[in-house]
Amino acid sequence: MLGCPWRDKPDARGHSIRPHSKAVGGYVAVIQAGLSENRADHSTGVVENPGCVFFNEERILDNRVYTRIVGTGSCVPPKVLTNHDLEKIVDTSDQWIVERTGISERRVTDESTAASDLAIEASKKALEMAGIAAEEVDLILVATVTPDMFFPSTGCIVHKALTSKPIPAFDLSAACSGYIYGLSVADAYIRSGMAKTILLIGADTLCKMLDWTDRNSCVLFGDGAGATVLRADSTPGVLKVNISADGTYGDLLQILGGGSRNPCSQKVIDEGLQYVRIKGREVYKTAVRVMSQSVEEILKQLNMTGDDLALFIPHQANLRIIEAVAAKLNYPMEKTLVNIDRYGNTTAATIPLAIDEVVRNGRLKSGDTMGMVAFGGGFTWGAAVIKY
Ligand code: UT7
Repeated sequence: MLGCPWRDKPDARGHSIRPHSKAVGGYVAVIQAGLSENRADHSTGVVENPGCVFFNEERILDNRVYTRIVGTGSCVPPKVLTNHDLEKIVDTSDQWIVERTGISERRVTDESTAASDLAIEASKKALEMAGIAAEEVDLILVATVTPDMFFPSTGCIVHKALTSKPIPAFDLSAACSGYIYGLSVADAYIRSGMAKTILLIGADTLCKMLDWTDRNSCVLFGDGAGATVLRADSTPGVLKVNISADGTYGDLLQILGGGSRNPCSQKVIDEGLQYVRIKGREVYKTAVRVMSQSVEEILKQLNMTGDDLALFIPHQANLRIIEAVAAKLNYPMEKTLVNIDRYGNTTAATIPLAIDEVVRNGRLKSGDTMGMVAFGGGFTWGAAVIKY
């Protein structure tokens, strides 16, 4: 571990600035091992940090820097695939799908549409809402597990469509938790001063990766994209983001083919390895446990309870999972966002699609505190609490 260069260094007012010190009056942004490790008490400005390798001195003076959502947008393909449509192609029923998942219909991209097309449309709407020109964006981050291609990244494709100014653009792969993972990265960039305006997108077209003869998987997913413009601000925004993963569960939800383990080949196609495989029941049980634990943990870390949340957006994989998580948390369903009936599970798009919905229909109001939690393949999961 490197030493902390600010130790005993006086600030602009001649105060000594130390980690762990209650004398720290300003905001400290710390990047530890490449990740933001901010255990700040936002009421006192005290940051508990076991060590640091990076210090942005500007941040420590008087300015707290927060990440705020200043624009949202979404895009779903026009084609609606209902449960009744599915009844015609696979051995299922509208009744089974509605009762077991809560899904009535989902949106499906046509052959000519890729994840970036949805991402670009969602981004334009988010930038328009924010009143920010694409040239002001200094990082594009796309959470997706269905990139247009291996490379260029979907981030670069979105970049090409929006601006000619060279800025960093990249993809992030964390399946259904992709947006929350992306939020943790974006928040770290903003709080450390590495970026001021970030376009964070969740975009997926998992319907292109489904085996339409496998009723265990093909009824669950839909396509879509959600985008958010995030900006550095002096008023709270993102209060906390936690992310985690446990790779030992990887084989419960996966696409085996097409990567470097099983490159695209006739054998891969013959064995159907290019399709989503899910062991639904096992995923279900872990999802309920981990999602509720994640929310409990983040609220505890923030000294909050469910009562502090005006709204809760859980990942939309199954209505029964959402209800079970809300019940475990003793959180009312009236304040829990549900749109799975219309979209199914849109993977990394789920959370930003829902954010755009509640912003545009006025369900999320300025000053509201909102919780979010996601869970997906990997397994990956994450929770966030933001002030809008
Ligand atoms: O974002 C994270 C990723 N995804 C998830 O979190 C999904 C988590 N899992 C789930 O949502 C649920 O486990 C499913 C919706 C996938 C399945 O529901 P389930 O209540 O766990 O059903 P099951 O897999 O235990 O299957 C019960 C029965 C089986 O028949 P038998 O063996 O009891 O005769 C299945 O073959 O339901 C049958 N089944 C279906 N029947 C009609 C499975 N899929 C279908 C279907 N239509 N589409």
